[in-house]
Amino acid sequence: MEGRSLGGGSKAASLPRMAALRTGTGISRRHLSTFCPGPLRYNREFWAGTAKSMSNLIVLGAQWGDEGKGKIVDLFSEKFHAVARYQGGHNAGHTVYIGERKFVLKLIPSGVLRAGVQAVIGNGVVIDPKALLEEIHGLEAMGVDVKPQLKISNRAHVIFPFHRTLEKISEGREGRIAIGTTSRGIGPCYEDKIARRGIRVADLVDSDFEQLYRALAEDKQLIADAFKLTDRVDFKEILEQYKQYAEEIRPLVCDTQHLLNGLIREGKSVLFEGAQGTMLDIDFGTYPFVTSSSAAAGGACTGTGVPPNRIDGIVGVSKAYITRVGAGPFPSEDLTELGEEIRRRGNEFGSVTGRPRRCGWFDVPLLRYTAEVNGFDSLIITKLDVLDELKEIPVCVAYEVDGKVVYEMPASTRRMEVIKPVFERLPGWRTKTQGIAQMDKLPKAAQSYLKFLEERTGVEIGSVSNGPERNETMIIPGSKLEKLLE
Ligand code: GDP
Ligand code: IMO
Ligand code: MG
Repeated sequence: MEGRSLGGGSKAASLPRMAALRTGTGISRRHLSTFCPGPLRYNREFWAGTAKSMSNLIVLGAQWGDEGKGKIVDLFSEKFHAVARYQGGHNAGHTVYIGERKFVLKLIPSGVLRAGVQAVIGNGVVIDPKALLEEIHGLEAMGVDVKPQLKISNRAHVIFPFHRTLEKISEGREGRIAIGTTSRGIGPCYEDKIARRGIRVADLVDSDFEQLYRALAEDKQLIADAFKLTDRVDFKEILEQYKQYAEEIRPLVCDTQHLLNGLIREGKSVLFEGAQGTMLDIDFGTYPFVTSSSAAAGGACTGTGVPPNRIDGIVGVSKAYITRVGAGPFPSEDLTELGEEIRRRGNEFGSVTGRPRRCGWFDVPLLRYTAEVNGFDSLIITKLDVLDELKEIPVCVAYEVDGKVVYEMPASTRRMEVIKPVFERLPGWRTKTQGIAQMDKLPKAAQSYLKFLEERTGVEIGSVSNGPERNETMIIPGSKLEKLLE
């Protein structure tokens, strides 16, 4: 991985900028050639890339989201040239503290907070232009000059207000078991994408947007009529609004797969920022109580257009315990006063919706499952400090189903709802750990707790976070993660 020499990059970089000639995205030639330069002819050297000194890393959630990905990506982004979001939308809420200032990033990669880092919203993301512009303006008001750093994929899909309306209707329907979504229109937008009737950013900024929009709006009107839905949607007003959004967004739009692969060919490094978590992944999560995108590591490639053989490392982020927002099975959930204490100490309230997060204990079979699905090279344990006061800490090490002990996560949600957690209890440390910067300075019981997680999950712990601030994070010397960040 390190020192991998692929050769040929400088030649590729010097070739003329003609990518726009080959684009079929509907975006103007002038626009693409300005923002997404590319060579006239592809040759073997071009594809081979360039001499490479840094790693391309995926950082993603190993549980049900809110593991502290934002904090970690912000910290690591100092070492990367670009940070890319690959799935989800403004259902994500990634919190970053820089000194006294608190940022909650929803659509924009956390890397944007570092001057000079290229922030990319990839094709796998669904974008509500209103939410995006509000986020850009909010960050600008806090002194972050977003626009020069941000690029948005022309292949990303666009969320419209009627997506939210449809979601509200579906979630609120009598007799339906609600998923407890974030009500951002994420699911219905991905539905349109998969049904091949969605509108992409390339369409939004193109001259035939109105035509495509009318076709989609008619489709939605038909559904509304068929189901006798009374919610009023002013399709014309939406059209006018979206034309305005398009004006402001247009300069940020480009072929981001080309941009990212170009950076990689130049020997630059990309950090992929996952949203949600593996247990909310559309394929591998607790279906149907999941989100509608590929939150697992594979999504980083399909959601950015960077091929799998360009990825050097995959890092899972997990809390020292576990939380979940919304409905669905949660074997190690603690519904007692202890669970509430964790919620209080960990301030476990959703960063997007403010909903209280359900709290429970570190789940070994779950983590082994997400490690297998993602191929974690390293694990980052966050919020260790939240456990500081506990006398003993339960860890779910297996499940009991029909009187049998199993170590694997069942695929059936019904089965998952009835399994019982098998707990082992580890001694607590009852000492403040916040801000301790070295593993061997942690209380012995905390070190043993981490060792236990590492041994049972089979994944090396590369970093431990014990506070929300950037500097309240230790990278374990000699770990694989340390090498990946070199
Ligand atoms: P994300 O969605 O994975 O980025 O996580 P969120 O930002 O939604 O939730 C994580 C919360 O935990 C945020 O409020 C962070 O500031 C906070 N946090 C992250 N790491 C730590 C830590 O090690 N200790 C404590 N006490 N808080 C942390
Ligand atoms: P970050 O990136 C935690 C949950 C919702 C709901 C389910 C489906 O901050 O970790 P959706 O609106 O996506 O259709 O809702 O997924 N969910 C999250 N939970 N963290 C998130 O993002 C989440 N994004 C969605 O609560 O249960
Ligand atoms: Mg979050």
